[in-house]
Amino acid sequence: MSLPDAPDPWWRTAVIYEIYPRSFADHDGDGEGDIAGITARLPYLADLGVDAVWIAPWYPSPMADGGYDVSDYCDIDPRFGTLDDADAMFAEAHRLGLRVIVDLVANHTSSQHPWFLAARAAEPGSPERARYHFREGTGLDGGEPPNNWISAFGGPAWTRIDDGRTPAQWYLHLFAPEQPDLNWEDATNRDTFDDVLRFWLDRGVDGFRIDAAPGMSKHPDYPDFAYPDPQKFATATWTDNPHWDVDTVHDIFRRWRRVVDAHPGEQVLVAEAVVNGPERLARYLGPDEIQTAFNFDYVHAPWDPAALREVIDRTMTALAPIGAPATWAMSSHDEVRHATRFGRAGETTWGGPSQTSDLELGRSRARAAIMLTLALPGGAYLYQGEELGLEEVEDLPDAVLQDPVFTRTGGRIRGRDGCRVPLPWSGTEAPFGFSPTGASAPWLPQPAHWRDLTVEAEQGDPDSMLSLYRTALAVRKETADLLGPSFEWLPSAGDVLRFRRGTRFECVVNLGPDDVPTTGPVVLSSDSAPSGNVGPDTAVWIVHDVPPEIP
Ligand code: GLC
Repeated sequence: MSLPDAPDPWWRTAVIYEIYPRSFADHDGDGEGDIAGITARLPYLADLGVDAVWIAPWYPSPMADGGYDVSDYCDIDPRFGTLDDADAMFAEAHRLGLRVIVDLVANHTSSQHPWFLAARAAEPGSPERARYHFREGTGLDGGEPPNNWISAFGGPAWTRIDDGRTPAQWYLHLFAPEQPDLNWEDATNRDTFDDVLRFWLDRGVDGFRIDAAPGMSKHPDYPDFAYPDPQKFATATWTDNPHWDVDTVHDIFRRWRRVVDAHPGEQVLVAEAVVNGPERLARYLGPDEIQTAFNFDYVHAPWDPAALREVIDRTMTALAPIGAPATWAMSSHDEVRHATRFGRAGETTWGGPSQTSDLELGRSRARAAIMLTLALPGGAYLYQGEELGLEEVEDLPDAVLQDPVFTRTGGRIRGRDGCRVPLPWSGTEAPFGFSPTGASAPWLPQPAHWRDLTVEAEQGDPDSMLSLYRTALAVRKETADLLGPSFEWLPSAGDVLRFRRGTRFECVVNLGPDDVPTTGPVVLSSDSAPSGNVGPDTAVWIVHDVPPEIP
């Protein structure tokens, strides 16, 4: 197989599978995943039916934030392998018809990056310091931070350096102190990242996921911001914030688009941008900027018909004028796994369980939800393990937690480790084939009951989540109506989502308590024992023999 030809750019309808490399597959037996592990499992992903993989950061990193603290943008962390391993992985992916997107973390570096070490050692006002946001403090002896900006992981966004100078300066970090923000007004930074993009493009990557995109520009005057809640880095609620979604940020992405467009092939830029609604998100997209964005409004939508309908409508309305395709996703390495979220009524964030989750209910909703997701126009993202129905592991012992959120909030927020537990592949005991026999224990412990959720256990079972994902992806691929742009809501009861794609394809999702009648020949049901009706928390795909008359 080779990379499939597509009449449209491939990324307009691609299903992209996120790999969190530390937790995907461990080949060398150190208890952490690696690139050789990914390469060995690529046939599984090709067989699952996805089009591409997005690999969370694999660069050299002190791992203060799970790899999102990069100390060299053009190399691989030894724990994951080597550049040769990456090249071999690209070649094997392409041979199998899979594309590869890498993560580009350019809002900040690691505090161990040579650029930051040089900046710390240099004088205030030097070119080295100009690569970051170093400022004088306020108050007596500059002992207070330069302004009131907060960090996403808790506490102030400023840390004072201890360099023996009086007064010592402060540096900005929108995330952990080990992640100093780069200054994107600095010409050296801009030029250097053009080269970083070219380095990976020349090695054969098919795109970049742009981490923390809206954070990259800051207001030049560093003014205070009136946070609605100063405890919460709630970017989706902010308007006119001076360090997030500042309009000058778009210059960076237009420049990156020129670099990508100058390279042969159809590489894609994907924005990670949690901003205030799809209208603000749409500003990142377009023919001279980023091609697609991860749709957080859909990720965060509850299992509720009105909320889902609204986010679907708002997304498509905002993106239509610029011709950008929508994307749809339910989970990622930053979110509480959706099988758990959908099993409880209340809000679930990184804070830890607010209430118990009915996982059986959560999984039936997750089955219906993937059929909704894959039936919507545009692209979709899957997060490793959701195809097995994995839940959030909410009872990890405090001692194993590694997310900086846990320590930075004094344990108030447990963080994101619960969705990063290593995958179960086979066997009946941990490490469930994640690591080879005799290896070190996985870096986070896996629940014993995952013996029933391994790839091996699910692949032979036609009723498993894995079988549903495989079938849904296969049907999607062979159904031209699903890959086209057309979408139309059809009349339905209030707690039913019903829509048509093309002329003959129909998706019905029942979020209410009562059965609803089916309206045509069902080609796939999320209910493994369909009754003829569409039951509660069930989705069906219908393909009509002839285009039906819709009243
Ligand atoms: C993004 C990543 C997240 C990381 C943060 C800082 O949101 O997805 O994992 O902690 O950026 O880089």
